[in-house]
Amino acid sequence: MVQEDIFKKIIAHCKEYGFIFQSSELYDGLSAVYDYGQNGVELKNNIKEYWWKAMTQMNEEVVGIDSAIFMHPTIWKASGHVDAFNDPLIDNKDSKKRYRADVLVEDYLEKINDKIKKEVEKAAKRFGDSFDEQQYRTTNPRVMEYAQKIESVRTEFFGALEANDLEKVRQIIIDLEIACPVSGSRNWTEVRQFNLMFDTKLGSVAEGANTIYLRPETAQGIFVNYLNVQKTGRMKIPFGIAQIGKAFRNEIVARQFIFRMREFEQMEMQYFVKPGEELKWFESWKDKRIKWHMAMGINPAKYRWHAHDKLAHYANAAFDIEFEFPFGFKELEGIHSRTDFDLTQHQNFSGKKIQYFDNESGESYVPYVVETSVGLDRTFLSILSACYNEEQVGEETRVVLNIPAPLAPVKVAVLPLVKKDGLPELAREILNELKFDMNCMYEEKDSIGKRYRRQDAIGTPFCITVDHQSAEDRTVTIRYRDTMEQERIPVEKVAGIVREKVDLKNLLKKLV
Ligand code: GAP
Repeated sequence: MVQEDIFKKIIAHCKEYGFIFQSSELYDGLSAVYDYGQNGVELKNNIKEYWWKAMTQMNEEVVGIDSAIFMHPTIWKASGHVDAFNDPLIDNKDSKKRYRADVLVEDYLEKINDKIKKEVEKAAKRFGDSFDEQQYRTTNPRVMEYAQKIESVRTEFFGALEANDLEKVRQIIIDLEIACPVSGSRNWTEVRQFNLMFDTKLGSVAEGANTIYLRPETAQGIFVNYLNVQKTGRMKIPFGIAQIGKAFRNEIVARQFIFRMREFEQMEMQYFVKPGEELKWFESWKDKRIKWHMAMGINPAKYRWHAHDKLAHYANAAFDIEFEFPFGFKELEGIHSRTDFDLTQHQNFSGKKIQYFDNESGESYVPYVVETSVGLDRTFLSILSACYNEEQVGEETRVVLNIPAPLAPVKVAVLPLVKKDGLPELAREILNELKFDMNCMYEEKDSIGKRYRRQDAIGTPFCITVDHQSAEDRTVTIRYRDTMEQERIPVEKVAGIVREKVDLKNLLKKLV
């Protein structure tokens, strides 16, 4: 099936099974804003718990905070967001559609990259076991030509962006003959910079009100609490502060479902280190973060590293973890070495000293920072797109979400075969034991086959079926989602088996 169709199916599935709804749907929706439904919120909370525990519980020197969304407006001046948190936008005059100039060029380059991939795949088939991909990529004239084209466009385009030469940015789009995906024309406007922050007023009288911003990242809430946490927690460098929370960006080209939203959630951690040691910690956090993703058991080929072409002026290293979404490889997480930029800026703008006194060396310094920043919604989408499967079972197609058991929205469904003969009572007894530990569901409507399919579709790893034999000998069948195998076990064993499998410990243990 083509990836575009799979993506459409996933979006439809999310709606049909209570994972994600368009915000304000009743009023025809609000673009790029989404609500999480009854199953979506469970999956989202489980991802948060996995991240939170991986960061704080598994690293004794990392603590968490929950800072406010509203902050003093000068914070955003200090951080550079007021002056430089912009997207270069370009409009197509025929379709009236607006695009991010860099996204247009990235999409163009991705198409060339696809051509390279096809050449490599063809050659791999032709040469079989003796195929040396590295050698092929560095010697095949056509592949080398494509690679050179990518490299030269990248250098020129990002150079123009960095120099804020918007006329040149436009000219490159024209020279590459990039057409509007909607109208097909190359009738482009000039490129303009557009600030992504939402603003609002603090106070009831508009005239005297201060403009404040909805935070575009959670990280600044951590920076401005650095001293509070360091002092009250008597933290010794290196240490980290983690936070999960909402962020807001006025994304003009909001598309691809929950991949790019105007209101979204981030899971960020700032790790404060001694200057000069940042690159060592940068490598260490790169390792830890890729492990965190891999521990979920998703195909490792779906992840890849991407070094930033254009480093922010204050960063001395930056990598993204990209994930292969149904619409291609895109950024899932950023790991950045941000030097002492943010703390120094806040020191300068607030006029207050933000320094660390090192007892051992007797020196004071502004710590350097290594940041890990992952989108919660993008993680959600990565899991859903990797775990959505359609399988042929006899005449039927089974849609199943093979979500890792500890993250599944519903861990176990308890299903009495019929609504009488004492079966519902026994089913309730099992549910009443399990519900203290995990999210369970009780269902007695429809045939058992239909009920299994509904549970498969929301990713429930275990179904417990209570039948007439259960009433006689207190045994039930446990059905495993992934294999569809069924086993008869004593009622007394259910809780033990399920608890063991759905424990978050199963993922966390892979991190050490
Ligand atoms: N503090 C650094 C920072 O905010 P970023 O690369 O702009 O860096 C970090 O954002 C992560 O937040 C991204 O890797 C992505 O997962 C997520 N993210 C950013 N913008 C988003 C949006 N509009 N919708 C959903 N997730 C977004």
